[in-house]
Amino acid sequence: MKKGDIQNQWDKATEGWVFFVRTGKDYYRDEMNNPAMFELLGNIRGKRVLDLACGEGYNCRIMARKGAKVSGVDFSKKMIEFAVQQEKKEKLGIDYYVLDAGNLHIFKNNTFDIVAGFMALQDIENYQDAAKEACRVLRKRGRLVFVIPHPCFETRLIDDKIIGGWEYKKRTMDKSTENALHYKVDRYFDTQVDIIPWEMERLTQHFKTTAFHRTLSNYADALHNAGLLISRLREPKPTKRGLAKYPMLKLHLRIPHSLVIEAVKC
Ligand SMILES: C[S@@+](CC[C@H](N)C(=O)[O-])C[C@H]1O[C@@H](n2cnc3c(N)ncnc32)[C@H](O)[C@@H]1O
Repeated sequence: MKKGDIQNQWDKATEGWVFFVRTGKDYYRDEMNNPAMFELLGNIRGKRVLDLACGEGYNCRIMARKGAKVSGVDFSKKMIEFAVQQEKKEKLGIDYYVLDAGNLHIFKNNTFDIVAGFMALQDIENYQDAAKEACRVLRKRGRLVFVIPHPCFETRLIDDKIIGGWEYKKRTMDKSTENALHYKVDRYFDTQVDIIPWEMERLTQHFKTTAFHRTLSNYADALHNAGLLISRLREPKPTKRGLAKYPMLKLHLRIPHSLVIEAVKC
């Protein structure tokens, strides 16, 4: 898969993505991942924050409303166009740039207090370069905080077969959480390129993107080699409000969906 192909996929996905995140359909984010991510981010008022692979800017806007001075980068021109349009409507002082996460050349060394990456590092092919660049643009003791799908519990397709995921009681077509028996994990060490079909009912437009299954050690090594020291981890659980509204989320009181990592520039 060429870099340009992955970029094109995201350009094509942009409208569907914008609908997904701006209409509250991304409840995994709103009711589970963001609360854990923002707990680790702490008080960001007055902090200089870079949002790495920021998409259409959803989390940039949240961070700016919390008082941070935010810059957002993404390699999809279309995502950045939507982000800039929104900035014109709600002026939050966010700067957006079309940029590859693995080459942040427009930013000087030691510029940011925080680099944040929301559900992005698993989609970034050159994640090792991205980690190095994040470290370079962070000030000393600055933090990279990112959330990714939990590498141990990803639903993956190999040769068109789902090789992991929830298994349900036999003789039922009812895939409700009560019928979920256990989560099957296999071939964890087979790192690979995954084509992700975004085909949930809650989307108006279906699309495909590319992600990369990596192990926990791969991420830990990338951070270590970049000069970043893992300081805290979170495995987010759904909020009470999320559980009441979206029964699906109950599954994530049993098995985590995602992992938040904080790493400090040493
Ligand atoms: C799942 S979306 C998340 C977007 C955003 N962080 C959010 O919270 O809505 C992943 C994003 O990563 C971007 N991306 C993937 N590879 C990238 C790269 N090498 N450099 C910059 N952005 C990249 C895509 O364009 C897409 O916007």
